Amino acid sequence: MEQSLVLIKPDAIQRCLAGEIISRLEKKGLKIVAMKMLQMDYALAQHHYAVHKSKPFFAELVDFITSSPIIAIVFQGRSAVSLIRQTMGETDSAKASPGTVRGDLGIDLSHNLIHGSDSLENASQEISLFFSDEEIYNYTRDIDRWIS
Ligand code: RTP
Ligand code: MG
Repeated sequence: MEQSLVLIKPDAIQRCLAGEIISRLEKKGLKIVAMKMLQMDYALAQHHYAVHKSKPFFAELVDFITSSPIIAIVFQGRSAVSLIRQTMGETDSAKASPGTVRGDLGIDLSHNLIHGSDSLENASQEISLFFSDEEIYNYTRDIDRWIS
């Protein structure tokens, strides 16, 4: 079982799409094991997007991700990292395939609604930025008899 960090970005909250996006992931069988609403500050945004620090779009990216509250979620499931990336679609919403969150609902490269960890290593590091161990729940759902 893998865990991955998902952020429901400011544009999703502003456009009332949080429930729709969370629902798509939940319906795939992924289990919510941690969730909170927060507004990212500059320091957290810098840590979370540290890999993009030298990119020309970094300032715009940090401005956007700190612009209003977000929902941070840890999803757990088999191949959770790649499953979430597939469900999200390509980074640029204009190029993302129909059927994906970004392809169906996203606006452009910046306003792409959702973040998902891109590797198991990054997932673990990103989860620890947003959640303490005590905030991540270990529990069994009835449906887990079928999918685990
Ligand atoms: P994210 O980290 O937000 O889940 O998105 P991602 O993996 O699909 O894309 P990534 O390459 O990690 O880029 C992070 C965010 O930076 C913005 N971006 N802008 N102007 C540009 O060329 C450019 N490239 C990336 C996007 O908003 C992307 O979500
Ligand atoms: Mg990324």
